[in-house]
Amino acid sequence: MASLKTSLSERYTAVAILLHWLIAAGILALIVIGLLMTQFQSTIGPMETFSLFQLHKSIGITVLLLAVIRILWRFTHKPPSLPADMPPVEKGAAHGLHWLLYVLMLGLPLTGWAVVSSSPFNLPTVLYHLVPWPDLPILPHLANKGAVSHVLGWVHAYGAWTLIGLLVVHFAAVFRHQVIKRDNILARMVPGMKLGGRRQ
Ligand code: HEM
Repeated sequence: MASLKTSLSERYTAVAILLHWLIAAGILALIVIGLLMTQFQSTIGPMETFSLFQLHKSIGITVLLLAVIRILWRFTHKPPSLPADMPPVEKGAAHGLHWLLYVLMLGLPLTGWAVVSSSPFNLPTVLYHLVPWPDLPILPHLANKGAVSHVLGWVHAYGAWTLIGLLVVHFAAVFRHQVIKRDNILARMVPGMKLGGRRQ
């Protein structure tokens, strides 16, 4: 019981919490903007679609940089352990899900960047209209870059749908902990929220 109490009364570091919520907000914005600019182009018009693409690229590269910092932080700062009474299979599932989220947090911005770098339109990327951002190497010079960009766009879109699915599972797990198990595990990631669950 002592270790259960300890793990549930330990918070993530302030840096890990800040990065978690910044990246979460960025990813939610990217999903909404990504769907608007690809699925609703005819409703929103060409100029607005163009602006949304630029915003999507800017937020996406920001998320890439934040995800790199977050992963470095994760490797150098041990997170609080999962509750001791959690069955090993659930712990395995939680770790597996978290690592898949890290993979997509890096993989999605990288494939998005690769789509833009291989695009036959050769549009420059200027983050937030301020910071010029380079293309990835090699891709802009490929002879068949239109086809490559198309395949990468497909990978990016299916990756995004996979991420949406994993986020639904992530929300469901948090909901289960808060409402069914009532161990208040969410407080470890929310600054100011009172730590400790019903069972303590
Ligand atoms: C975590 C980061 C990212 C997420 C969650 C994300 C999400 C999405 C989503 C949901 C779509 C629409 C998929 C569909 O067609 O149904 C999309 C499309 C797209 N994204 Fe991202 N994106 C991310 C990062 C980036 C970055 C960094 C760039 C470029 C620098 C980028 C460039 C694009 C482009 C060009 C498309 C259109 C692809 C196509 O239609 O071929 N994305 N993204």
